[in-house]
Parts: sequence; structure tokens; C-alpha cells
Amino acid sequence: MRLQQAFPTSLMCGLLVAFSGVLFSGSALAADADAAKALARQSNCFKCHAIEKKKEGPAWHDVAVKYKDKPEAEARLITHITSGEKAKFDDGHEEDHAIVKSTDKDQIKNLVDWILSL
Ligand code: HEC
Repeated sequence: MRLQQAFPTSLMCGLLVAFSGVLFSGSALAADADAAKALARQSNCFKCHAIEKKKEGPAWHDVAVKYKDKPEAEARLITHITSGEKAKFDDGHEEDHAIVKSTDKDQIKNLVDWILSL
């Protein structure tokens, strides 16, 4: 039996359009927000960060604004949350910044893309 008989072309096209819509909706910044939040929660990021409001660390919305249109932003922030580089706190002390609790590159990239989209 030929494939076309089992799957009429129109149905195949419809499926393809629907599927590519899921894959390519938006730009590289179309992050999976739920997954990003789950990883942030699991990594205790919200202890020092909130989306809109400054806590010990800057509000992530402000981070997104600061890095808007900066092509190196993604790489910069991936380093920031994976290397334990020094973070400067408002009272002037410095300590190693928290490291995200994942070694999965895609998950980390998703979190960074989500922060940059806020
Ligand atoms: C103990 C408090 C604390 C925790 C926990 C923490 N951060 Fe931060 N974060 C800070 C501080 C303070 C800064 C500001 C650092 C600076 O400007 O030197 C910062 C800065 C940032 C920035 C902006 C960096 C930049 O280049 O402007 C991002 C993004 C960020 N944190 C993400 C995260 C993520 C993701 C997590 C969870 C894995 C996390 N933070 C956990 C305190 C924290």
C-alpha cells in the first residue's frame, strides 16, 4: 500500500503545518517558561531573584532589559550561572554566584533564554 493512501496528502500537510508551528513558534527566545521556572525553583534561584522585583540579586526583567540586543547575552549568562563566578552584593561583599542544578546544556540554555525574554 502506498503511503498516500493511508495518509491523505491534505491530512499530512495539516499535520506538518501544525507540527512546524510548535517547533518554530517565535524566535530563539521562545523559551519553555514552565521548564525554566521549574529549574530555577529547583536551583533555589528565587531565593535571591524575582522576575519583576529586586531582591538580593537583580530582577530578571531588569537583566533582560540590560542585555537587550546584546548578541553575547546568552553565552554571558550561561557562564554566569554555570561557573560560580564572583557576584557582587549590594552591601559590597562578594561571593560565588549560585550554580544552576543541571548539567543539561539545553535546559540551561532554556532557562537563560527565558530570563532574557522577560
Ligand atoms: C545568594 C543569592 C543568589 C542566588 C541563590 C542566585 N543569584 Fe543570581 N545574582 C545574585 C546577585 C547578588 C547578582 C548580581 C551579581 C553582580 O552584579 O555581580 C546576581 C546576578 C544574576 C544574573 C545577572 C547577571 C548579569 O550578568 O547581569 C542572572 C541572570 C542571575 N543572577 C541568575 C541566577 C540564576 C539562574 C540562579 C539560580 C541558579 C541565581 N541567579 C541564583 C544573587 C543570587
